[in-house]
Amino acid sequence: MQTVDRQAQPVVAGKPEANPLREGLRLERMAEPCTMVICGATGDLTERKLAPALYNTLLGGFLPPEFTVVGFARRDLTDEVFRQHLLDGINEHSRNKPVKPAIWESFARGIEYHHGNFDDPVAYVELAKRLDRIDRDRGTAGNRLFYFAVPPSLYPEIVNQLDRAGLAANGDRRTTGSKRGWTRVIVEKPFGYDLDSARTLNHEMAEVLDEDQVYRIDHYLGKETVQNLSVFRFGNGLFEPIWNRRYIDSVQITVAETVGVEGRGDFYDATGALRDIVQNHGLQLLAMFAMEPPIEFGAEDLRDEKLKVLRAVKPMARADVAANTVRGQYVSGWVEGARVSSYRDEPEVAPASETETFVALKLAIDSWRWAGVPFYIRTGKALPSRVTEIAVQFRRAPLALFSRAGVPQIDPNVLAIRVQPDEGILLRFGAKVPGQGLQIRTVNMDFRYGSSFAVDSPDAYETLLLDAMTGDASLFTRDDEVERAWAILDPILEAWAAGEGGPLHFYGAGSWGPPAADELLDRDGRAWRKP
Ligand code: BG6
Repeated sequence: MQTVDRQAQPVVAGKPEANPLREGLRLERMAEPCTMVICGATGDLTERKLAPALYNTLLGGFLPPEFTVVGFARRDLTDEVFRQHLLDGINEHSRNKPVKPAIWESFARGIEYHHGNFDDPVAYVELAKRLDRIDRDRGTAGNRLFYFAVPPSLYPEIVNQLDRAGLAANGDRRTTGSKRGWTRVIVEKPFGYDLDSARTLNHEMAEVLDEDQVYRIDHYLGKETVQNLSVFRFGNGLFEPIWNRRYIDSVQITVAETVGVEGRGDFYDATGALRDIVQNHGLQLLAMFAMEPPIEFGAEDLRDEKLKVLRAVKPMARADVAANTVRGQYVSGWVEGARVSSYRDEPEVAPASETETFVALKLAIDSWRWAGVPFYIRTGKALPSRVTEIAVQFRRAPLALFSRAGVPQIDPNVLAIRVQPDEGILLRFGAKVPGQGLQIRTVNMDFRYGSSFAVDSPDAYETLLLDAMTGDASLFTRDDEVERAWAILDPILEAWAAGEGGPLHFYGAGSWGPPAADELLDRDGRAWRKP
């Protein structure tokens, strides 16, 4: 699929050569010279996501030659070992492989490792000296991007230590006119555990950092199809007029995974599907789908609109939780031909764990546009296929005209926005079967990214890292959005914890979740789409 020879992209210092292959690329997105400090750099996020994303961004010509990476972690490693750790990650996980030696060598010259404990002030003083030296030697102009690839419990400690070492101040020239470089911080999810903890975390970070320095990552927002949702809705005249309760019957958001907890039993057992997926990815997809058109596509307008939708989502009364939610946990079964053991047998999962690995819920948005349209969200691990999609079911035609001619009721139109895999958009509608009699069958109109565009999509982390380096926070979640998402889910978490939210249902690995999830829609005369 990859048709552009990315090696042709200049990665050396100086003005990029005129290159026809660059036409159409968003050159203005070239990052400013900066240093990215990865706190917790020896964890698997660096290897699986960050290193491949940086390499591909460099390969695409979007990183300047001054760009520098400093890995900061507790393990005592040499620069050389850390570089090898990144190289192994790229070789294994990059969408462009094998690694091109010349590109890697130029990248590797700007990779260093800083050994220290996150609670040790000396480690930060030394880090500050190192960053000053890098500014002088490599021309990174005092611009620093800190990536917190550590558990959220460490965020306040690190932020405070950065502050004490004089590393948190922001001299973003665009906003302050000062000569200092900018300081930005990317934090990983989960941001908090419930509304209270998210508020506390926001508050602790706000004591040191301005909100516009904080980039809360939700990698689903960096996915190409999620960004395309806005183009689809607001770049075309056709869809927006029918994007409302008059034409739409219901909306289903599915985030299905075939994988289990992938060695993260400890984290997952304390988290569960509602916090791990629905609080962030699920509600962000809902907000992008349902928001009003923003005045402009700037970070604040976009996030204001998403926040409005989240504010209009009615938090469930505790007494309604059992009727509107289903939680499940997988037991042994088969997924894609492989035997999967029960969730409770996973390493680091409590043998009698009550944590949900599947959740289905029905939400209502109290707004003029969406009143009366149910939004169903389901997500689960160990399901039969990996698919994320938003399926819009339209209202039926007002008159069953063809039933008079003996044709059974035609299926309602469905528009399925496939986020992954096989990114694209599918429209299902009724068509006449060729022949003399009148028979109607549902057919598909199918747009696929892969066949329409002969280029590879960037990975979400590539887009988001570059956005943070260019100071574009549009695809990151703001403090109030995160808190509002927790406010929607808190009553559910509370009811479940109090044993009032309905039972935990078990489902076989490789099935589409417990039958109770089907009943949730069945009661409304609807059914989940089989992706
Ligand atoms: C993460 C969750 O945010 O998203 C994981 O913590 C999940 O549990 C992952 O597997 C799914 O991401 P993707 O991009 O593979 O759909």
